[in-house]
Parts: sequence; structure tokens; C-alpha cells
Amino acid sequence: MSLSNINPTTTKAWKKLEQHFDLTNGILMKSQFKEDGHRAKNFTIQWNDFLVDYSKNRIDENTIELLLELANELNLKEAIASYFNGEKINQTEGRAVLHTALRGKKDNSILVNGINVAPEIHEVKHRIKQFTEAIHSGEKKGHTGKTFTDIVNVGIGGSDLGPVMVTEALKFYKKQVNVHFVSNVDGDHVQEVIKNLNPETTLFVIVSKTFTTQETLSNAMTIKNWFLQNATQQDIAKHFAAVSTNTQRITEFGITNENIFPMWDWVGGRFSLWSAVGLSISLAIGYDHFESLLQGANEMDEHFKEADFDKNIPVILALLNIWYNNFYKAETEAIIPYTQYLSRFPAYLQQGIMESNGKSVDRNGDPIQYQTGTIIWGEPGTNSQHAFFQLIHQGTKLIPVDFIGFKKSLYDNKDHHNKLMANFFAQTEALMNGKTKEEVESELKAKDMATEEIRQLLPFKIFEGNKPTNTILIDRLTPKSLGALIALYEHKIFVQGIIWNIFSYDQWGVELGKQLAGQTLKDLNGSEIGEHDASTTQLIRAFKD
Ligand code: F6P
Repeated sequence: MSLSNINPTTTKAWKKLEQHFDLTNGILMKSQFKEDGHRAKNFTIQWNDFLVDYSKNRIDENTIELLLELANELNLKEAIASYFNGEKINQTEGRAVLHTALRGKKDNSILVNGINVAPEIHEVKHRIKQFTEAIHSGEKKGHTGKTFTDIVNVGIGGSDLGPVMVTEALKFYKKQVNVHFVSNVDGDHVQEVIKNLNPETTLFVIVSKTFTTQETLSNAMTIKNWFLQNATQQDIAKHFAAVSTNTQRITEFGITNENIFPMWDWVGGRFSLWSAVGLSISLAIGYDHFESLLQGANEMDEHFKEADFDKNIPVILALLNIWYNNFYKAETEAIIPYTQYLSRFPAYLQQGIMESNGKSVDRNGDPIQYQTGTIIWGEPGTNSQHAFFQLIHQGTKLIPVDFIGFKKSLYDNKDHHNKLMANFFAQTEALMNGKTKEEVESELKAKDMATEEIRQLLPFKIFEGNKPTNTILIDRLTPKSLGALIALYEHKIFVQGIIWNIFSYDQWGVELGKQLAGQTLKDLNGSEIGEHDASTTQLIRAFKD
């Protein structure tokens, strides 16, 4: 069964939402809170160690009902079943989308083309565990007999962003090896990483689903040549491992079978950290923690599959964003984690969300006349408060924000944590309440400011307020809670793709630039410059001079 193919704007629910928008868009959330003593409770979902309070949104009971009606009219329930059952919902590439299977229980049967892939998944996981333990215990050593101290993950996009984000997020749980990342084809990046490394004690993990990606292959070759300055071809077997679907290319590179970790075409690059792409995560934090990460994601999968839509965190967050994106015409969405550990989380989600839902053709192949994927951005709080919060508070654009915070800090420093979280709570309150003319006036009067001065300053100090936020409050940043948090956003992506009637799991849009770069490289390396527009020709000429 393929996904249904319905233009969301033609549904009854969409029409009702348009009318509902016209009737409600001037209503202030702060008045709604005054009128309804149960609002906070009614618009909160408590699940495991997650508390998701979405009451500070421009919604009422009716909004949620209509958004849920939209999801039902667009057959979301059936689509979720197709997703988890391994149907080929990545239709333009003819593939299933089964990253959820990677964190499934061992005895769950998962059929791809009629074959149960669960045993294969668990065999690879077992190999990741053994490999990790052998590196940590020193059983596996470098070619001169020394224990490994450093790991370098070489990959880009989904073969980099997930491992980078998770190893940073979970560095509290780090084992003795240091993990580094090389991604950019910028030669200075790889040099900066390897310049302080000892090749005798470094293991390189080359991660590329296709093993054809220019950046990764170039970096891998540069590293290999650097390594071979003081080692032989046979030593490569001890210092290089690879993760890919393309085992033939890896063997040609010189990596031996025991260091090759397979992945499958039904795992999308941007959803692959749960596969062997997570090898560097396991090496960084230990296999048991890697397993807990997967378990947390699995629990969120179960929640998403089983919970009624009105109590389903990914469904509610996806629908709320559709409300802002398609009815309020908000173009961006900010994600602000109040922990420095999650500093790479927004960047990770940029690929997850924007590569998935940045589409302008529907599942029928027709151009879309409504808005799809939002622009994702963000930085950790409180730093972001001192950078771009001004625009969220007083700018002209509506920016819904997800605030992600934790009840307990990892080092248990109560003084710091209370200060951090005071900001976390204060910001969502300030964004909602704003500050009225009257409030500003009385504040300035209390400071004994002259009437004329107050009159001049007044407009600048008013905060319109009514800015929407979701608050995701989690007990503690653990491998398990992080796994659940990542899976939450993965499923939010899925729900939005279903509603927008797009294919979320291909990424044809990144191909054109790659193709042109290939042709342009010939121009840079050769004596002739091929055909380009005048601007590009001029720039290439200037570069070559
Ligand atoms: O450029 C986009 C992309 O195809 C991503 O989807 C993917 O994560 C990345 O390139 C890297 O691809 P690979 O793992 O095959 O090297």
C-alpha cells in the first residue's frame, strides 16, 4: 500500500482551519490563561521523563481538534503503519524507511522485500559492541603495538552530523578515547584535525553510505597518504574501519572485512546514527550507552505508534508547526536547547528537517501551492538570549520556538542550574506576556523619569508578546533521553511530510550543485574554462589568476 496522495488544502479540515484562523488570530494567549484555569494542564503531555507543555501557543481546544481532524483526513494513522511496516514510502528511490528497525527489539520481525532483516541488524550491533570493547580494552592495537587513544570519523552530512551531535551531547559519558571529526572538503579542516594526532595510536572510521561522496573520499585519501608516510599498506588494516552499503569500494581502499560495517539502503543518511554510522558514538561513550540511546529512541517509536494523536508528542508538535507555517505564514522555527551539551542539536536537525521537507513537488509530481518545510535554526540558551533573542521578542517576524531543558544538570551544580533554568522559564513567559504600554509607563515613572522622556522612550520598550513556544522539560540528559528526543523530531518530520503530501525521504535537491561542482573542478584544474554565465566565468578567472 502506498501513501495516500491528497492535497491538504482541499480537505474539509483545512477549510475549517482557515476560518478558525480568521476568527482567532487576534486572541492573546495571556487572556486565554486568565479565562481557563486548566489551560496549562490541558495542553501538556507527560510521557516517561518528558513533560511537553504546549499551552503557550496561539491555540484553543478547537484548534487542536481541527488539526487532529486534518491528520485523520490525510490518513496519518495508516501512513504510520506503512512507515513502521517497511513499505517503500521513499517512493522516488524505491526504498523502505526503516531507521526505526535499527532500534527495534531483537525478536521483532522486520520484513524488507519479504526477508526478515532483524537478525542482520543484531549481528551488526554485536560486531559494533565487540569492536568497541576491543578498542577500549586495548585488545585491538595499532601497527606498532600501541593502544588507540584517538578516533577520527571521516564523513559528511548524515555520516557526520549525527555522530558529531551525539558525541558532543553525551561527552559527560565519554570513555578514554578522544573522537574527532573531519567532514569538509576544505583541506584546512583535515589538516587541523590530524596535525596533533599520532598516526600510531589513531583509528580512522570512514563513513559513507554510498562511498562515492567527494568530500569523504578526498579526506580519506589525504589521511591515508599521511598515515602511509610512516607505515606500510598492510598497516591500513589495523588503522582504518569503514561503514557503508558499498563494500566493494571499501575493499579497494584497503580496509579488511573484519573492519567493514555494513548499512542498508533502507536507512536514510540523515537518520543513520542508529546504524553502524554510530560506530564513533559507541567508541566515544561505550557500547552500553549507545544501546541506551537506541532504547530511548525505541520507546519514543512505541509512543508515536501507540498513543492517541491528542496525547502523541510528535503528532502534536508537528501539527502546531503546520498551524504556524501554513496559517500564520511563519517561515522559520527556532530550537533552543538550554544545555551546552546540545550545541550541535539545531545543526543536526537542520539536515534532518530541511533535507527531508524542503520540497516543492507533491506526491503526485505536481508543483505545490502551499508552504512546506520550515527553516530551522538555533543555538543553546542562555548564549542565544545575548545574540538573536532581540529579534524574536521585538522583530517583525513570528518565530515559534522550542525550548528544551533538563530538570537536573549532570554535574549537579544547583547554583548554575537554577540560574540557567530561571532564564529558560522566564523567556517563554516573557515571549508570551510581552510588556504593555501601561506596564512600561509605570516602570519608568517608578524610576522618576520625566514625562517627556517617558513619552520618547515608551515605544521602544513595549513588547508585543503573544509569541508561541513549546517547552520540553526532561529529567536529565542521558543517552536514553537523548535517543527519545532525537526520535521525537524524526517522527515530527514524518508527520509533516504526510500532511504536506510530499516525499520526505529523498534529497534530489542536493544533486545539481554536486554535478556542477564536478564540471567546475575540471575548469579549475585545466587550462580552459567551460561555458558558464558571465559572473561565474569572471569569478573562476579571478580565482585562477
Ligand atoms: O548531500 C546530501 C547527502 O546525500 C546526505 O543525504 C548524506 O547524508 C550525505 O550526502 C553523505 O552521503 P554519504 O553517506 O553517502 O557519503
